[in-house]
Amino acid sequence: MILWFSGTGNSEWCAHVVARELNDECFNTFKYIRNKEQHTFISEKPWVFVVPTYAWKMPRVFRDFLKRSTFEGCRDAYVIMTCGMDNGNAQKDNESVLGKLGLAYKGTLEVTLPENYIAMFNVPSSQVIDAQFISAHELLVAAAHKIAQGQTFNVKKAFAADLLKSGIVNAVFYPMYVHAKKFTTTDACIGCGVCASVCPLGAISMDANHPVWRDTCTHCMACISHCPAEAIEYDNKTQGKVRYTAQKCMPANFKVALTACSDVPAVNMELHKNVHVCEGTPIQIQPACEAELAAVNKLCIAEDMSPYTDVENTYVATDSTGEVLGFIRLRIAQDSRVFVNPIITAADARRQGVGRSLMHFASEVYGNLYLVARGSAIQFYRAIGFEEMAWDEVIPELTEDCGNCDRIKECSPKPMKLIAAKQA
Ligand SMILES: Cc1cc2nc3c(=O)[nH]c(=O)nc-3n(C[C@H](O)[C@H](O)[C@H](O)COP(=O)(O)O)c2cc1C
Ligand code: SF4
Ligand code: SF4
Repeated sequence: MILWFSGTGNSEWCAHVVARELNDECFNTFKYIRNKEQHTFISEKPWVFVVPTYAWKMPRVFRDFLKRSTFEGCRDAYVIMTCGMDNGNAQKDNESVLGKLGLAYKGTLEVTLPENYIAMFNVPSSQVIDAQFISAHELLVAAAHKIAQGQTFNVKKAFAADLLKSGIVNAVFYPMYVHAKKFTTTDACIGCGVCASVCPLGAISMDANHPVWRDTCTHCMACISHCPAEAIEYDNKTQGKVRYTAQKCMPANFKVALTACSDVPAVNMELHKNVHVCEGTPIQIQPACEAELAAVNKLCIAEDMSPYTDVENTYVATDSTGEVLGFIRLRIAQDSRVFVNPIITAADARRQGVGRSLMHFASEVYGNLYLVARGSAIQFYRAIGFEEMAWDEVIPELTEDCGNCDRIKECSPKPMKLIAAKQA
């Protein structure tokens, strides 16, 4: 099983390349990192952990995730670390961390890809980026071959400078540099909430349509690099600098669809002004903040649904007083398709276009949408452009929801999809 963490997509891309070569499962660890979840992973194939290098070691948030987790099945474990330059002597720490988990450490592969740390450095030129992806691809294919054969990765010769970088410099780097105090936004901010939704740590909340950073930030550069308006700056270090994401900058022949955490689909700036007119009444659609969780849950309970503990991938429609009229929650599948689950409008706000506006908004941000429609809602989805699809296109969690429900006959569920291009 390939487990990855990524701020701007390099490591996710490597994970997909290796997973494809090994015909193995590719797993995004964001949820477990963001919620500090303990989880038992089971795989009969070798474990491959793919991460960026942060200060010449694996990211601390990932190391903490590994320490919290249990790995059952195969004992062999490999680490792939992407870096802008080098990973110092990260191999030593990796061996120790994996050893403590009872895994057989089979080596660390260093893969140089574009530098993303724009709070300190610059993104390389497009020629350099192309060359980096070409050699990284060759390295990864060869590495996958070694993994399939059960071979170990070569041990890197570590010099005194490498020991220093992965030792004392790493220890000093975190307390000195890794905090969110220097993030600011400019007037270009359109309040779209993309920064909050891509932050793997949930370190950004939206307050009156403006991002507010908390100090759980790990400097992954996802927020600043994904902001569609380039409205985020870090101190005076990032002004005028190119923002890097793998999805945007990698050569076309290497493109794979990267998921929401490391890439948000192209954003229509006009629609992201966030004001939707609903039967003459202006409503606002924005990412839900913690304070709106209670209102979201009130709507869930009214529909006999269990309440949520977080507002992840949840967008609310509010009226001019801030009252929540409805919400949409999205589930990003491992193959990056976006499932609507659920969309709910308050009983006294129905038939005013709230649901339609929420759906339109989600489709503008995320592109194609998928869902399982039930009962009378099927007509509504047809009317706004959804078409039926096969059950095997639905992610198992949603199929199970229906399979375990005793009201299945009454609501005759139908899997449906909205193809954004057709809608436009
Ligand atoms: C906080 C931080 C620290 C970094 N430290 C290093 C480093 O020590 N050595 C290095 O070569 N690159 C370093 N980089 C660059 C990234 O490791 C590199 O661009 C990586 O491929 C980004 O992966 P991602 O796109 O999956 O997030 C650092 C980047 C960040 C954001
Ligand atoms: S992503 Fe950029 S434009 Fe959108 S809310 Fe965040 S800072 Fe503002
Ligand atoms: S606040 Fe920005 S830089 Fe910090 S962890 Fe979240 S996305 Fe990464």
